[in-house]
Amino acid sequence: MEENKIIVLDFGAQYAHLIARRVRQLHVFSEILEPDAPTEKLRKAKGIILSGGPSSVYEKDAPPFNPEIFSLGIPILGLCYGHQLMAQQTGGKVEQGNVREYGLAEIEVSKENKMFEGLEEKETVWMSHGDKVGGLGKGFEVIASTPDCKNAAVANFSRNFFGFQFHPEVTHTPNGLKMLENFVKGVCGCKQDWTTKNYIAQKCGEIKKQVGKKNVFLLASGGVDSTVALALLHKALGSEKIYALHVDTGFMRKDESENVERELEKLGFGNFHVVNAGEDFFEGVKGELEPESKRKIIGEKFIEIQNRELRKLELDPEEWLLGQGTIYPDTIETAGTKHAAKIKTHHNRVDSIVELIEQGLVVEPLDQLYKDEVRELGEELGLPHEMVWRHPFPGPGLAIRCLCSDGKENSLEEIEAKAGKIAKEFDLGVKILPIKSVGVQGDARTYAHPCVLVGGESDWGVLEKASTKITNEIREINRVLKLVAPPQIESVELLAADLNRGRIELLREADAIAMEKIAEHDLMKEIWQFPTVLLPLRVNGDGESIVLRPVESMEAMTARFYPMKEAVLKEISGDVLAIEGIGSVLFDITHKPPATIEWE
Ligand code: XMP
Repeated sequence: MEENKIIVLDFGAQYAHLIARRVRQLHVFSEILEPDAPTEKLRKAKGIILSGGPSSVYEKDAPPFNPEIFSLGIPILGLCYGHQLMAQQTGGKVEQGNVREYGLAEIEVSKENKMFEGLEEKETVWMSHGDKVGGLGKGFEVIASTPDCKNAAVANFSRNFFGFQFHPEVTHTPNGLKMLENFVKGVCGCKQDWTTKNYIAQKCGEIKKQVGKKNVFLLASGGVDSTVALALLHKALGSEKIYALHVDTGFMRKDESENVERELEKLGFGNFHVVNAGEDFFEGVKGELEPESKRKIIGEKFIEIQNRELRKLELDPEEWLLGQGTIYPDTIETAGTKHAAKIKTHHNRVDSIVELIEQGLVVEPLDQLYKDEVRELGEELGLPHEMVWRHPFPGPGLAIRCLCSDGKENSLEEIEAKAGKIAKEFDLGVKILPIKSVGVQGDARTYAHPCVLVGGESDWGVLEKASTKITNEIREINRVLKLVAPPQIESVELLAADLNRGRIELLREADAIAMEKIAEHDLMKEIWQFPTVLLPLRVNGDGESIVLRPVESMEAMTARFYPMKEAVLKEISGDVLAIEGIGSVLFDITHKPPATIEWE
């Protein structure tokens, strides 16, 4: 049966997901499939869009596709590579381009047609291609050209086939969405019925069908994605068919595990099992001081604990599927998701889970969605606003925000003199901290000292300039901080400290204050992520130090420090200083790069 949806065939690069997203922005459901998807799946769509991709149609290893696409009687829009493939498959010719045409171009519409309805005669579009269509396919005619590209847009009106050499899905094509709308609604006749509500109904049907008589096992981290996936699976299948396992590492945020359990219970989900593994984790990291060894131990512990718990459950692959909260960006390998992928590999490597994955026994109901769509879905499913808007939180949790040290200091005088010279230009003083944090330069990891700026005016613009200049010019510094309290630094003592419950407790309190305050001031969305970090440093003879690290970012690949309003900062630091054992508060004013978001 034909469904009210558009199928996007993915020919590589990352165009397909953007196209699919744009279609959903038009409130029409879209689904991404491999180009060689079976005919019975393709037949269900009202229209098919062939994405761009990095290949050439002449390449031996060009993506295989289902040639029946072109004989289903369904409207097709081919974009870039898709445009070339359609030309080649309908008797046209593709010319191999020696030069890449890359950037903005202006098309001139040469024939009135549905695809450009409501648009100007000339439109700016984004081009990015090597090859181009030289000879048109049978029944095709040109509908728009640029000075460099005669066959920029073509149509076979009797078959409802269209091809664009440019990319309407990117924002650089200002009226691209309108062009897609003309195809989706004008040509294919799709109705605007895609809402999160409908998505839930549709997905529930699909989940039921896929799961059948089996059950679903899901590792629930407490993060947004796995919680929403769980809520959706629960809606589709009910509590009895799902087993959710949450490992409390002891490095969680305040009340995190309890909150997730409680909220899911409110939705009627009772099959949530928490393994309290704090003892194992703390024992594992005892005495470890280096960031990388801490991470490694924690990763291995995860696997160990999960294997242990799973062995107890004796999941039979005949009866179980694995539920995962994988979202679309997780499936694209970018620097921004590499970390997350790493921790997921940990999870996925658990023996019995690998077995399920290898046999294709996985159900991933969010795998076509973006974070913002997942959040919308979460709200629609009845999860509270605060829960779906929580910030991303790394797998190793507070452990990588709690710095450790053997207490031995090296002389930092030389670096301090260099930094002091630069800071002076901005009327500021400096103190180099006898501890190191992780940064990133080019693609390489750095491990260097932070520099604290003291005194002077605390204008964010000036601080940003000073921070950038210092990290640019002094190799030994990869992070710059603003001193929030006390007002001056008389002395800094490095303490011998490892990862123990007491210190995590201190950090957890400070973190809870920071989170509570930004929620109060309605800054959860504006701030992408807000790590709070504990340093084993005693400033002016008092307690340990807390660093506040709020950042603005799109996807964590790069980030800017968040210039917090003075009043909010004051409230946070006041409450943090009231924690017994905390004696100073610093604010991280480094972008990524050169620093990373987390300190370790
Ligand atoms: P960095 O510190 O590299 O962090 O700028 C980028 C993003 O990745 C998160 N992150 C992790 N997430 N397991 C995770 O699931 C990890 O081990 C991990 N380390 C960093 C970090 O919180 C930020 O969002």
